[in-house]
Formats: sequence, C-alpha cells, structure tokens
Amino acid sequence: MSDFVYRSIPGEAPTVVLLHGTGGDENDLVSLGQMIAPGSALLGIRGKVLENGAPRFFRRLREGVFDLEDLRFRTNELADFLARQAGPLVALGYSNGANIAASMLLLRPEALSAAILFRAMVPLTPDAPPDLTGKPVFMGTGQHDPIIPLESAERLAGMLKEYGADVTMKVVNAGHGLAKAEVEGARGWLGEVRKKL
Ligand code: MLT
Repeated sequence: MSDFVYRSIPGEAPTVVLLHGTGGDENDLVSLGQMIAPGSALLGIRGKVLENGAPRFFRRLREGVFDLEDLRFRTNELADFLARQAGPLVALGYSNGANIAASMLLLRPEALSAAILFRAMVPLTPDAPPDLTGKPVFMGTGQHDPIIPLESAERLAGMLKEYGADVTMKVVNAGHGLAKAEVEGARGWLGEVRKKL
C-alpha cells in the first residue's frame, strides 16, 4: 500500500482529518479545520485519484455517478491508512471528501469516531449494515446545490440514522459553496461532541 500525501498540524485530540473536494489538496481545508476545531490536531490528506489533473478520493464515471469498485478500494485504502494514526479521528469532508468519509462510515465505521460531512450524498449501498450506534455525524447540505441533490443528502442522513448514527443535519440556503451558518453550526456541534470521544 503506498502512502498518501498529507500535511499534519499538531494540536489537541481528537485529530480532525481534512478531506478536500475535487481539485483540492491536503492544504485546502486547513483554515476551515482551524475555524471549526480551534486547537485540534489536523491531518490534511490528498486524494490519490487524478481526474484531468484534479485530485479526488475515488474515480467517477461522470458527475454524481461513481465507479463503485474504485470507491470500495479507495475507502479501504484510506481507512487502513487512518488506522495507523493514534487517538480518535473526526473526519471533516467537503464534497468528494465528504463522500469518501460517508463511504468509510458505511464500509469501515471503526475508522472514524465522528464525521462532519459538508455536501455529501449517498456514495454506495453497503452489503452488510454497519454498526454506527451513537456515532456523531454532522451534515451541512445546500438546499440549491446543483451537484449534490438535496434528496440524496437526505437519503444519506436516513441511512446513517437507520444504522444507529446520531445525525445532525443542517440544510442551508446555499448551493455547493459553504454558508457561514453551517460552519458555525459544525463548530458548536464539535465543541459538544469532542468531550465524549
Ligand atoms: C463527487 O464526485 O464526489 C461529487 O460529485 C462531488 C464532487 O464533485 O466532488
């Protein structure tokens, strides 16, 4: 298994794992991470798949249609990499990064203690139901997002809840770009959740 390109910023536990959107890299979400989790250790990871030169965490056939075989492989590869990190991990994913975080919750739930998913949709349907009992998940969803249909984000929230996750969903009056209200919402949510991890 070859390693990921990453950037590690020391700080307090839990470590917040930054997973960028299409075309981003390990630096992309550092300031967002510092806003949402001030003082926390940050681990920015770069997706290994290139789409016309743009880093992603897994292949897609076209927008919103994923290469499921690659998605499963990449999900396991990332979960294996994260298993080598010490202490509890909280994913902070945006768009493509939120989708692989959601895929980890569904296929490798032990990899993450909690997750913040901005602009996530249903990445795949797991063969076996994962045990997500009590796992805290915050979702920030844009009501007018042209890339992530609201219906798919709501279906993901429903799936995670069905498997036992403690889901907080914030639907904002926004598109694919983040709104201040959900960033502040995630910050307040993590402030409470981190004490229990
Ligand atoms: C994905 O491919 O994961 C979604 O379409 C979001 C994105 O474009 O990053």
